[in-house]
Order: sequence, then structure tokens, then C-alpha cells
Amino acid sequence: MDAITNLDPISPEGIPPLDEPARQYYFIAKCRQWVQAYTEENGRPPRACVTTFGCQMNARDSEKLSGILKQAGYQLTEDENADLTVFNTCTVRDNANQRVYGRLGKLNGYKRWNPRMKIALCGCMMQEADVVEKLKKSYGFVNLIFGTHNLYKFAELLFAALSSEEMIIDLWKDTDRIVENLPTERKYPFKSGVNIMFGCDNFCSYCIVPYVRGRERSREPKEIVREIEQLSAQGVTEIMLLGQNVNSYGKNLEHPVSFAALLREVEQIDGIRRIRFMTSHPKDLSDELIQTMAASDKLCRHLHLPLQSGSTGILEKMNRRYTREQYLNLVQKIRDQIPDIAITTDIIVGFPGETKEDLEQTIDMVRQVKFDNAFTFLYSKRTGTPAAAMKDQVPKVQAQEGFDRLLKVVQETAREQAAKDQGRILDALIEERNETTPGYVTGRLSNNRIVHVPGDEALIGKIVPVSLEECHGFYYTGRLA
Ligand code: SAH
Ligand code: SF4
Ligand code: F3S
Repeated sequence: MDAITNLDPISPEGIPPLDEPARQYYFIAKCRQWVQAYTEENGRPPRACVTTFGCQMNARDSEKLSGILKQAGYQLTEDENADLTVFNTCTVRDNANQRVYGRLGKLNGYKRWNPRMKIALCGCMMQEADVVEKLKKSYGFVNLIFGTHNLYKFAELLFAALSSEEMIIDLWKDTDRIVENLPTERKYPFKSGVNIMFGCDNFCSYCIVPYVRGRERSREPKEIVREIEQLSAQGVTEIMLLGQNVNSYGKNLEHPVSFAALLREVEQIDGIRRIRFMTSHPKDLSDELIQTMAASDKLCRHLHLPLQSGSTGILEKMNRRYTREQYLNLVQKIRDQIPDIAITTDIIVGFPGETKEDLEQTIDMVRQVKFDNAFTFLYSKRTGTPAAAMKDQVPKVQAQEGFDRLLKVVQETAREQAAKDQGRILDALIEERNETTPGYVTGRLSNNRIVHVPGDEALIGKIVPVSLEECHGFYYTGRLA
């Protein structure tokens, strides 16, 4: 079954079907009846805003929420002062978490002016019991709380929230279920994320993701291929395959498939010109994957390969299951076979027990690997993870100092790497108008770097050769070649 785009034949009468996704289409039709009544009463459709915190996975989930809202008849807006506002939350670090509470206060202010406003919270933060307790106690104005495992039930839960004044809470501890073929509303017409797997089984000792996203499960290759074929038919040319650790894709399927084999299948799909993926765990990156990337001109020249630390001792405590040397060898192998590849990474500073020497090792790795970019994070203690209970938590001042030193080196290396391509002509997918410089558009190179060129909106969605005239560190300015 494909996603249903015409709801007219679906009856919101009678009892709800038990099978999925039919049940959710029934509830979308129910919500639609509510929306129609609202529209007649108020002379306009209700407005809905979905705000995303966190990673690409959450961004894709938000597109699913928006797809359901659009089919129900809501008018989508980016203004959080709406008739329905949904926060799709992240809890990977405490600051992500705090941002949500801050923004919730603001929503409460809007709700005072518009008491019929509904506020819904979902995503990773909701999978934490103490968060939900706090919300119940001090944020009684929230109408609906659900989690990551039952996101597909949004239409059903929304209808319940529309029909009730009580706070509705529906949270599951875990699931092995994947519901296919629900509607989505994409942010960009020409590129799209595609989930290939959900959850994570790696349990890196600092990380909360395995607890809030549940056990790793892969989608069937045929479902993935079918979704991408549909996207291609709608004009999408670039896709980003999403998973917490794409390199372990397919291991638990009834008929196991490797990630590289999936890529080779996806490559065959007509109309798709660029394929990206996120995220690769170094411990599972296979030679087969490197060969597949090297042989393909659709697979983008970019690999995001989180290092986390350059010290083998810290890596061990992090439960990353590779050493400094193994990572270096892996990078060498990749660069040998795919010379024009950009390698980016994530690094955590201030993990429990991290000494100045450990940090030196990380800084040395950045210099040796010559990362094209690195996202650096201060370690954040997450309740329930093994690292939270470790002794020797690093004092904040020490961590911040190390962070600042690391960041400088990261910026130097990134700048040097980007400068190497100055003067070259490379293909860019033009993604948007440049907000700050009128008359300019912004494109993305295969290696994920950004280039600003003079041009108009007609270029958006096209892949065009550009000449990279000047490198400004993280981005270029140039012109169409
Ligand atoms: N699955 C991905 C990571 C998802 S989280 C992977 O393994 O690469 C994105 C990044 O957040 C991680 O790579 C890590 O660098 C950072 N991160 C995760 N937990 C963190 C914590 N407790 N404190 C600081 N940074 C953290
Ligand atoms: Fe977290 Fe590690 Fe899983 Fe990435 S691989 S989501 S860092 S546990
Ligand atoms: Fe955050 Fe959840 Fe992604 S915790 S980083 S939104 S998987």
C-alpha cells in the first residue's frame, strides 16, 4: 500500500479499524471533521506549528507529523503562536532539554490569549520518566504527551486531545513495530531524509539515545526502495539515509542485507542523483562500504564519522569499541580509496576521567586526520547512563578550557581543508535563497560544503557546476561556471 493522498473515500463513521495504517487514516478523517467544523465556526482553518529540536531523525519525524496535520486540514505555519503547537523534543544534552522548558513558558503565554490552543509534546525527552513527572506537576497547560515509539499514532492521539480537556499521555517503553505508508510533508521539494532504521543498540556509556529511541530495528529494503522511488517521482533528486548507526543496517532482518548492498540497490533508482547517509559508527564501517562509495558517482563525497575522543583509554570508557589506531587506519583506508572525500566528526570534551593528556591526544587526532569539520560538545551528564555514575566528573572550567582549545584547532583544520578546493569547479545542488545577501542563492557541494553564488530562485533544486572563487573558512563564494 502507498501513502493515501485522497481521504475522501475514508469514512470517519463506525468503529475504528484495528490494523495499521488504516486505523490512523480513519483518525485523520476524524480530525478532518473537527477541522471542518472549526473552519466554519471561525472563518479560517486552524493553524498548526511543528517545532523540531535535535537531529535529522527528529526532523524527519516532524515531517511525518506535519503530513498528518496537513491531511487533517490544518494550515501549517512556523509561528508557534498557533491553534496547535507541537514540540518534537531532543534530550541528547541537557541544554537541548532546557531549551524546551524555556520555550514552553512562552507557549503558556500564548495560550492565555487563546485558551483553545492545544500544546503537544513528543520526541526523545518524553521517553524520560522524570521529565513527564515534571510536566505533569508544573506544566498542566500541556494537552498531549507522546513518545518516539508511538509517533505513528499521532492522528489518533490528536483526535483524543481535541475531544478532551484532560492532559493525554501515551508513552511506550519500546517497540519492535514499524508502521509504513503514513503521509509526510517535506520541507524541501528536491531533497529528503529517508529512515532506514530506528533505535540504537550501541550503548555508548555517555549516551541517552538507546534509552529513548529503543532497540535497533531496520526497515525492509523493499520498503525503503519503494519510498525513494515515490520521492523520485515527486521530483526529489537528493536523499539522506538516516539511522543512528547505518553501518549496522540490515543485520537483524529476516533476510540480512548489508548497508553497502542497500546502497547499491538505492543507486539504481532513476532520478536520484545524490545519496548521503548519517551516521556511521567507525567500529562497523566495512571495506565493502568504502568500495561501494569509491565506485559510485551518486554517493556523495562526505562521511560523518564520529570520533568522540582521540584517547584509547577514554574511548574504552565510552564503550566505543575502537582504538585511536584503528580509527586512524580506517581514515587512511578511506582517504586512499576515495581521495576527494570530506570527513567530518563529533567530539565530546570533558568525559569523566578525561585528563589534559587525553585531550592532547584528541587535538593531535584532529591535526592528523585533518577533519573537514567537527561538531564539538561539552560532555553532558545524562541520568541513567553508565557515565553519569562514573567517578572523576571533570570540573566545568577545565572542560570549557579544553573545549576552547580544541575548537581553535578544529577551525584551523577545517579552513585548511576547505582552502584546498578554492579555484575548482564543482557541482552544487542549489537549496535556497540567500537570506542575508539579496540576489544570491546557496548551494551544497557533494562534500557537504556550502557555496553562495549570484542567482535567482529559478535555480533552486537544480544541480549546477559552480566555480569556488573564494574560501571563507566554512563556506565559499563563487559563481555559476
Ligand atoms: N548515533 C550517532 C550520534 C547521535 S548523538 C553516532 O554515534 O555518531 C550526536 C552526537 O552527540 C554524538 O556523536 C556525541 O558526540 C554527542 N553526544 C551524545 N551524548 C552526549 C552527551 N551525553 N554529552 C555530550 N555530547 C553527547
Ligand atoms: Fe548514542 Fe553511541 Fe548510539 Fe550514537 S552509537 S546514538 S552515540 S549510543
Ligand atoms: Fe536528540 Fe533524540 Fe536525535 S535525543 S539527537 S532527537 S535521537
